[in-house]
Amino acid sequence: MKVDVNGVAVAVVRIDETLYAIADRCSHANISLSEGEVHCGKKELECWKHGSAFSLETGVPSTFPATQPVEVFSVSTNGDEVFVTRRAENGEAS
Ligand code: FES
Repeated sequence: MKVDVNGVAVAVVRIDETLYAIADRCSHANISLSEGEVHCGKKELECWKHGSAFSLETGVPSTFPATQPVEVFSVSTNGDEVFVTRRAENGEAS
């Protein structure tokens, strides 16, 4: 699911009961990752344009042509509400 978080496009993915949030922009080109395929076993999101797959946990691509990671976000829930927050450089939520 594509969501807007304070002007930043984010793809929120659910695998079983775990939520992941990853920038909704492929690092290879300006393509929406939320339109790609989720690989549940590998916890990856595949870009539909050229096939690079990005880790939902780290944002690092495991396949070419993308070589740069995309930003991943922290996700928390409170009841039916989902909160997406940017991670600081040291990995802590901010
Ligand atoms: S635009 Fe995503 S892999 Fe090329």
